[in-house]
Amino acid sequence: MVALHVPAIMAVERRAYEFPWTEGVFRDCLRAGYSGWVLLGRSDALLGYAVLTMAVGEAHVLNVCVAPEHQRRGYGGVLMHHLLDIARAHAVGTVFLEVRRSNGPAIALYSQLGFHPIGERRGYYPDDGRREDALVYALELTAGGR
Ligand SMILES: CC(C)(COP(=O)(O)OP(=O)(O)OC[C@H]1O[C@@H](n2cnc3c(N)ncnc32)[C@H](O)[C@@H]1OP(=O)(O)O)[C@@H](O)C(=O)NCCC(=O)NCCS
Repeated sequence: MVALHVPAIMAVERRAYEFPWTEGVFRDCLRAGYSGWVLLGRSDALLGYAVLTMAVGEAHVLNVCVAPEHQRRGYGGVLMHHLLDIARAHAVGTVFLEVRRSNGPAIALYSQLGFHPIGERRGYYPDDGRREDALVYALELTAGGR
């Protein structure tokens, strides 16, 4: 992911999330040197993207998103497997992520990859005047494992 991708990313982000990241957040992630990836299809159409941070043996998935019209075709799995490969290559031991309690598709994807719930953050996400809890998931990476 490079700055040139951000306009196309924002077009997907706004359609995929009720509370999308701003363009500034993506630009800050790139400036900070986070591990950002885009999945491109024919004619370089943006199918999806993902952002990971890594530090001292831990990684955090900050965003993984597939364009609504391309969902349920395995691309979310491709992006997540790629992030896990990157994390493993950086000797990460544990990968963490937060997900809205109501986000069934994402929870199903993470569970299928072996992530397990380790806690929750109350009122972590905005939700129309109220706040929604985040579930915190983790996956331990082993040298030859998933
Ligand atoms: C979550 C998301 C990235 C999944 O991407 P995807 O490309 O549709 O997922 P895949 O096709 O790779 O599906 C992999 C597995 O995830 C689960 N899954 C994905 N979408 C699902 C759905 N709508 N309902 C139930 N399970 C689902 C299934 O277990 C699926 O495996 P299967 O196809 O063998 O049943 C996608 O729904 C998305 O971009 N959502 C909006 C953004 C978002 O919420 N991101 C996560 C923030 S924490």
